[in-house]
Amino acid sequence: MAKRDLITPQDFTVEEIDHLFTLADDIRKDRSRYAHACAGKKMATCFFEPSTRTRLSHETAMLNLGGSVMGFPDGGVTSATKGETVADTARVISCFADIMVIRHPREGAAMVAAHYASIPVINAGDGGHQHPTQTLTDLYTIRTLQGHLDNFTIGLCGDLKFGRTVHSLINALVRYPNVHFIFISPPELRVPDYITEMLNDMGIPYEEHIRLEDAISRLDILYMTRIQKERFFNEDDYVRLKNFYILDAEKMKMAKESCYVLHPLPRVNEIATEVDDDPRAAYFRQVQFGVYMRMALVLTLLNIHVPTEQ
Ligand code: CP
Repeated sequence: MAKRDLITPQDFTVEEIDHLFTLADDIRKDRSRYAHACAGKKMATCFFEPSTRTRLSHETAMLNLGGSVMGFPDGGVTSATKGETVADTARVISCFADIMVIRHPREGAAMVAAHYASIPVINAGDGGHQHPTQTLTDLYTIRTLQGHLDNFTIGLCGDLKFGRTVHSLINALVRYPNVHFIFISPPELRVPDYITEMLNDMGIPYEEHIRLEDAISRLDILYMTRIQKERFFNEDDYVRLKNFYILDAEKMKMAKESCYVLHPLPRVNEIATEVDDDPRAAYFRQVQFGVYMRMALVLTLLNIHVPTEQ
């Protein structure tokens, strides 16, 4: 059987994603049945960019499945500093591990790794391009909280230009019926033209706003994002835009009782900590859902089946 990778959310069909989420639900119900499913298997987490959640969530997923983990949190301690290519690194990691998770600042790096690796490769973020496991986490969170992935209005707020989680999520949600997009950003951080062109071509409705107050009352999901300092070329621009949006208790009064707030995290100032106690604040639950989803993903890519309970 050909190996499978996850480089973009489109690598899985809607039906396969549904199957993945059903498996994540089953894991969530009874984790103990999966505790030894990956015994003897090794995961390599190869992170050339900083991360807290994505690396540790994958490692937690593998440990929960009874497997082992190895890897590096910083490309600066690897032979990449001596000039080793991503292609060669992927070939080498294939000699050590059964599955590889890679984050790299260069767009397309995970695709190159997948091409040269003989083991399944998971893209944990490649530059400003894609972050598919965050997207699957976001979809799984929305599905779990709302009960469905169709017929809703989502507001994406903050850095819509550089935010790879946003680009990935939009690309994934266009495959579900009747999802209405509201983009909320400063003019400098508008969603890229290729995304609005795609929505136009597909006949999918969207709106663009600068003020969160102009849209928040109509949202079923509010997806907040950080203004990403590391993607700016100019410090002055970052300083000018970093506090453009601050979601606080006052603004939450304008939101529906059923509007969930998601955030891929880390947050900086864009959600005041007073919002954390609001039952609609779902961003820490989102982190937990990400572990179950990644457990399901690892099992799927390694083609490991745990018998269902009789
Ligand atoms: N959401 C996310 O990608 O977080 P980390 O950068 O901490 O992995």
